[in-house]
Amino acid sequence: MKFFLDSADVNEIREAASFGIADGVTTNPTLLAKQGGDPFRVLEAIAREIEGPVNAEVIGEGRDTIVREGRKLREIAPNICVKIPMTKEGLRAVRVLSGEGIDTTVTLVFSSSQALLAAKAGATYVCPFVGRLDDIGQVGMDVIREIAAIYQAHPIRTEILAASIRSPLHVVEAALAGAHIATVPFGVVEQMLRHPLTDIGIEKFLADWKKLGVSIE
Ligand code: E4P
Repeated sequence: MKFFLDSADVNEIREAASFGIADGVTTNPTLLAKQGGDPFRVLEAIAREIEGPVNAEVIGEGRDTIVREGRKLREIAPNICVKIPMTKEGLRAVRVLSGEGIDTTVTLVFSSSQALLAAKAGATYVCPFVGRLDDIGQVGMDVIREIAAIYQAHPIRTEILAASIRSPLHVVEAALAGAHIATVPFGVVEQMLRHPLTDIGIEKFLADWKKLGVSIE
């Protein structure tokens, strides 16, 4: 499974890339607003930092506006992937941009029927929001499982990009459910790294090595 970083913070992205946890990046208007500054420059800096796709989201609502915004975002860097909300106009724009060879992600997906339509329109990635479904009392991971089963049963090349990930358990469940990618906030990556038994183990090994009275270097 691939890991994308769900962040617009270039320092976090650089750090995650240094240990191999940034096959790509997802941003959204909320993450860019939190980061502040000129969003085009922020996206440019992120796109310079990693080789994989950097998702930049449109804000327009009609097909032509979305297409214009998508082309403009793509001019930032060749690894920009245009993120488009799941609407009828959005799917129309996906068809146009995919036809031009521009990668697209259909975002704000909350059902497998929406994911089917996104794949039909030619989306490169489909982005189901696990945490936001959990928030309203629906099991978000069930949607990932369903989409994975559907995409596997048919010749669909669209990749499932599990989003709105809130915990290490979400990441593990998304992997088990068949998501191709999980987009993970940096804080969750840090939680995934840690285990109390690892810390206890390191402490004990260090203490025992000290008894030998030699250094390795
Ligand atoms: C990423 O593509 C999504 O925009 C993001 O994962 C949404 O996460 P949230 O539901 O925690 O805002």
